[in-house]
Amino acid sequence: MTITATSTDAPVARQTMLDDVIAGLSQSQKTLPSKYFYDARGSKLFDDICDLDEYYVTRVESTLMSEHVGEIASVVGQGVLLIEYGSGSSLKTRSLLKYLDQPVGYVPIDISGDYLAQVGVDLQDEFPAIEIMTVTADFTGTFEVPNPGTPESRRIVYFPGSTIGNFKREQAQSLLAGMAEVAGADGGVLIGIDLDKDRDVLHAAYNDSRGVTAQFNLNILQRINRELGAGFNLNNFRHEAIFNADTSCIEMHLVSTRRQTVNVCKYSFEFEENEMILTEYSHKYTFGSFEIMAAEAGLNVKRSWTDPDNMFAVMYLERV
Ligand code: TRP
Repeated sequence: MTITATSTDAPVARQTMLDDVIAGLSQSQKTLPSKYFYDARGSKLFDDICDLDEYYVTRVESTLMSEHVGEIASVVGQGVLLIEYGSGSSLKTRSLLKYLDQPVGYVPIDISGDYLAQVGVDLQDEFPAIEIMTVTADFTGTFEVPNPGTPESRRIVYFPGSTIGNFKREQAQSLLAGMAEVAGADGGVLIGIDLDKDRDVLHAAYNDSRGVTAQFNLNILQRINRELGAGFNLNNFRHEAIFNADTSCIEMHLVSTRRQTVNVCKYSFEFEENEMILTEYSHKYTFGSFEIMAAEAGLNVKRSWTDPDNMFAVMYLERV
């Protein structure tokens, strides 16, 4: 049987993006929604972040996944449908797909449609026996999970990269509850979470010396300029990530380096010198804090794997 990668497309509408940007910039603490980081260039820059020495997240998670892939494959089971939230380049998923026991299908969900379509085609080439069904969607919204030609034994939601940490607590909890629903009564959730650690290590990971993270953060302004015809001068903003100890959270900012006015379509926004746009959160957890949040979303931690330095954890959850 030959399988062709299929895709369900719902590109982000310009009006929605404009509404989101205007709403974010109108708040007293200006914000921009982080989902707009991931245009083609942003997706590429994020892959570059993952390769940085200072960005331990991807490296530690990948090592954990490969060291424990046998155990992970056995708790996940045979003939599953693997559904990945925010799949990006699906780099980390390739080795998982290789070791799973005859998965029937893989559903990568990502907001970056063009990038995803290409990834889907490449994956189908690489894994001819697994049905690859891409879904272009914002995974925080509603989307349909396509049914594979061969019915699955169970569904596994895969959410690596500690992307869960990019949401505020209430949102993270409802996202987990949604995953429990997508997985179904006898499904499971495999999730990567970044653990609380030394401040300097965290600071370096999000303020790298080569400035890749800065380029990634600033790229959101470039995208808004291009897609909405806005007038951000990228030379008048700089990247800064700060750790907030009260919430155990890295907060990503774009800092206005001078007093300025920026036009976005017919709206204009005033910036004070040093005023910050908040672009992203990255929460750090302890085993305990994550377990409590999962329990409130109706999920039990069944297994977890961590590295010797307790930098990162991969957890397998099932419905209560
Ligand atoms: N999920 C990643 C994290 O929290 C996302 C990320 C890494 C990120 N570096 C960033 C988001 C810089 C915005 C800016 O680690």
